Amino acid sequence: MFTLLLFLLSVHHVRGWNMWESDWTTVFVACSGNGKSVWDAWKGYAGVTCEASSVIEDADTCKQSHQSDPILNEWRSSRIEQVRLRLWKDGEIVVEMIFNGTDTNKFNWFAQSKLLSSSYSDIGELDARFTFFSSYGYGYGVNRRFYINKSNYLGCDVDAGWMFVKDVGYGADCLFDSYKKYPYFLYATNYHSGVWQRDGDYDFADMMSIQVHQGEEEKKGTTTLEEPEEM
Ligand SMILES: *[C@@H]1O[C@H](CO)[C@@H](O)[C@H](O)[C@H]1NC(C)=O
Ligand SMILES: *[C@@H]1O[C@H](CO)[C@@H](O)[C@H](O)[C@H]1NC(C)=O
Repeated sequence: MFTLLLFLLSVHHVRGWNMWESDWTTVFVACSGNGKSVWDAWKGYAGVTCEASSVIEDADTCKQSHQSDPILNEWRSSRIEQVRLRLWKDGEIVVEMIFNGTDTNKFNWFAQSKLLSSSYSDIGELDARFTFFSSYGYGYGVNRRFYINKSNYLGCDVDAGWMFVKDVGYGADCLFDSYKKYPYFLYATNYHSGVWQRDGDYDFADMMSIQVHQGEEEKKGTTTLEEPEEM
């Protein structure tokens, strides 16, 4: 028993191996349909929660407004090693992606080059063919954020990809821009890319969570304050 405990403690201290659930800090949760901009909340820390560690992965907590942790504005000084994005539906994880957070800012970790693992088996295969793989995504008032799609400009009915946040914005571009009350989270089902307007290819998540895993030397809650980072 004692040996097992020692073993667990030592494993825990091997850097990069300590991926226990408790080593992930939830820094952002966004809920579908509450009428609030996900991008504004992410970008500006349109902050809601002030106490560290009080953001939890629970869709009941963001029904009125998205929740963010102050760490969002201290990203660069927070020794963020990995970032985990999850989409949830009815309390189940339907999409999960883990990114390399080393030397990132709060926008540029969401990139194909930073992707370490994903619940989509086909996401790494199409390398140069992504049109978008970015947190900013497609703006122009249409506002598809955290957007991962494939390249081809043949039209709305063949537009395809893996996920995006349809944020508060303009709905007239494509049918898939006006499925329901904003914001909403569209994701490809069946663990591979899907066509946004083909039945059975896509579904809606009810919550997006973003978590960070930090390095050992300096834990969150440091007093270093940074100006909000912009694109
Ligand atoms: C993560 O990114 C850093 C900085 O670019 C790099 O040095 C490191 O090798 C990457 N780690 C992995 C697991 O890809
Ligand atoms: C990718 O997104 C851009 C911008 O919304 C769009 O013009 C293009 O058709 C999309 N491609 C696919 C395959 O969805």
